[in-house]
Amino acid sequence: MDDPRLRFGRIQFNKERKPTPPIRLDSIDVHVWGFILDIEESELIHASSLLSDDERARSDRLLSEQHRRRLIAAHAGLRMLLSHYCRQSPQHLVIQKASAGKPFLRDFSSIRFNLTHSHGRALVAVGNDREVGIDLEKVRPEVDVLGLAKRFLSGQDQAFIESGELESRHERFLQAWVAREAVFKAEGTGITFPLHHDHIELRGDGTEGCVILGAGMLKGAVRPVRFLALEPGWIGAVVAEGTNWMVSYRE
Ligand SMILES: CC(C)(COP(=O)(O)OP(=O)(O)OC[C@H]1O[C@@H](n2cnc3c(N)ncnc32)[C@H](O)[C@@H]1OP(=O)(O)O)[C@@H](O)C(=O)NCCC(=O)NCCS
Repeated sequence: MDDPRLRFGRIQFNKERKPTPPIRLDSIDVHVWGFILDIEESELIHASSLLSDDERARSDRLLSEQHRRRLIAAHAGLRMLLSHYCRQSPQHLVIQKASAGKPFLRDFSSIRFNLTHSHGRALVAVGNDREVGIDLEKVRPEVDVLGLAKRFLSGQDQAFIESGELESRHERFLQAWVAREAVFKAEGTGITFPLHHDHIELRGDGTEGCVILGAGMLKGAVRPVRFLALEPGWIGAVVAEGTNWMVSYRE
């Protein structure tokens, strides 16, 4: 049987890469890609050559060599994926930032995307004429999730986290977290504190849900969220503008 999970693949960063055909993205679709950020030394130079001067300068400012390499791989990978939707070479895509920092394609306004990276893995969501937001977190059993939930999250979310199996508390905490992040990243604001006015609700088998916003400009808004089926140890969620959209995992 096919594995229904989204796998983190390896993007080949080398000059000899064959051009791949353009990717079609219908307006209902939200494509999600996952990839690994630890790349071979031999690929690093080519990956870096795909970046803008700003992206390269930003990576050069990082003190950790591992973080520098991963940032290069994340942005080069993002550009390579977007190039298939835009039919333009990765290094020629102009990516700008909106006022609160959300990146967008200057010359392809209907192709919307969002990137998340965490501990050597990245996810990219791509939508057609609808804003998207995506977030990825690694499960870290050493983290005091109840303490964090009490400090930052709503009473409803704390109850959700404390419900069910003890062993899956970390997953539930991260579900509450990534759902919010994905909502705020789709909005383009990034995470906006305080978070304790909002809460999540899961539906059906728990792969879908929504975030109900309880404060600020979006008070009362309900944002549908899809949780991603990832490799064990990873929790991710994607959000898109509107209600009529469908996630498909890409490789
Ligand atoms: C920016 C923010 C969303 C990043 O979240 P994170 O969990 O630390 O990191 P993720 O890996 O999930 O996402 C990072 C990516 O989101 C994208 N991003 C940055 N700002 C964004 C925003 N306002 N909205 C949506 N996406 C954003 C970028 O592609 C970024 O990748 P990069 O750092 O390699 O350029 C989070 O730090 C935040 O909410 N900050 C509050 C807003 C803020 O401080 N903005 C700063 C600019 S004014």
